[in-house]
Amino acid sequence: MDPAKTHEDLNAVIRQHSETLAAQLQAQRETLFPPDSAKTMRKFTSGEASALLGVNDSYLRKLHLDGKGPSPELTPGNRRIYSVEDIQDLRVLLEKTARKKGDYLPGRREGDKLQIIGVMNFKGGSGKTTTSAHLAQRLALKGYRVLAIDLDPQASLTALHGVQPEMDLNDGGTIYDAIRYDSPAPMQSVIRKTYIPNLDLIPGNLELMEFEHETPRALAQGNAGLFFFRIKDALQQVDEDYDVVVIDCPPQLGFLTMSALSAATGVLVTIHPEMLDVMSMSQFLRMTADLMDVIAQSGADMSHDWMRYLLTRFEPSDAPQNRIVAFLRTMYGDKVLNTPMLKSTAISDAGLTKQTLYEVERSAFTRATYDRAIESLNMVNDEIAELIQKTWGRT
Ligand SMILES: Nc1ncnc2c1ncn2[C@@H]1O[C@H](COP(=O)(O)OP(=O)(O)OP(=O)(O)O)[C@@H](O)[C@H]1O
Ligand SMILES: [Mg+2]
Repeated sequence: MDPAKTHEDLNAVIRQHSETLAAQLQAQRETLFPPDSAKTMRKFTSGEASALLGVNDSYLRKLHLDGKGPSPELTPGNRRIYSVEDIQDLRVLLEKTARKKGDYLPGRREGDKLQIIGVMNFKGGSGKTTTSAHLAQRLALKGYRVLAIDLDPQASLTALHGVQPEMDLNDGGTIYDAIRYDSPAPMQSVIRKTYIPNLDLIPGNLELMEFEHETPRALAQGNAGLFFFRIKDALQQVDEDYDVVVIDCPPQLGFLTMSALSAATGVLVTIHPEMLDVMSMSQFLRMTADLMDVIAQSGADMSHDWMRYLLTRFEPSDAPQNRIVAFLRTMYGDKVLNTPMLKSTAISDAGLTKQTLYEVERSAFTRATYDRAIESLNMVNDEIAELIQKTWGRT
């Protein structure tokens, strides 16, 4: 057989498969989210709204009766339901008379530096994207101004936020545009608003692979400069606009992850507590340390405010997992976050329809399942928020 011919056929087949898949995904998305109805956030019950705000529901009711703040929508049963915008308006209102500054708007104050959290591990499927998405959304719902960056060419975080990487980003608009070596675009031009008031997104897509290819070339030509500061430098352009940046890293320790590591003020390493994952983690840690040494030798400041391990997809009833968790806690002590992220079908099911657990309706799940999952997510995210507050000198 003519080898050139097979090559050509394979090409054609792959191309055709790619096109069919993109079309199918688009069709699927149109069924799930009709084209002109952009993704929106669900409404929150008054109970959920008061829990998010940290006030009593009776107080929210009083505000409503007194005509203060936003007017929540009323259900046919006369229950108040709040939009995310309502909740943000309430934050602004409540903060004016807060007993303690920052009770309702907990973000940066004069002198506080932007928090940049890199979520990483080169183990695929360790829960990086799920962690990043829920952390970014929870912080935004809690009143922080958040920028989520999808640094993974697989672009799952992007898709989760209703932007289809293979359809919506054909003319650019990813983080790659802002960090490439050849005439980088301004950060503002790649940032998009999401359906959550305080949450912005910089999408990713396959084009990010270019950064992995271009960096060695630029290094060889001596014009990569401090390549590992591409993200850090780009973020400086929008420093004032955010309190927290969450970066979802790809499952490899390439130049993209190194740039995230160099930009980060806090590092979150996700670990699925299974033996194979933990064994590969040892390698990941050693390589990371080696790389950080190399970067530090060039004079760069590689200090971080904190780094923590987050146990993901944890199953409390699984004995081997428990042994691994105990082992990790003994070795790494308080570097392991107290709360593990529980494995839950609510989280994976929500993921199937490109949603986070914060976006789906509680009524779509068995109550106990939903409640257990959301409680674990909130505890994880609030523990991270505490680390952020600590770096700003508050607790
Ligand atoms: N707590 C959880 N409970 C149940 N399923 C989960 C949980 N966390 C993640 N998953 C599922 O596990 C899969 C992998 O998770 P995720 O995509 O977050 O990992 P990742 O580390 O980002 O993967 P990759 O390395 O490919 O980027 C997804 O299908 C996700 O829905
Ligand atoms: Mg991922």
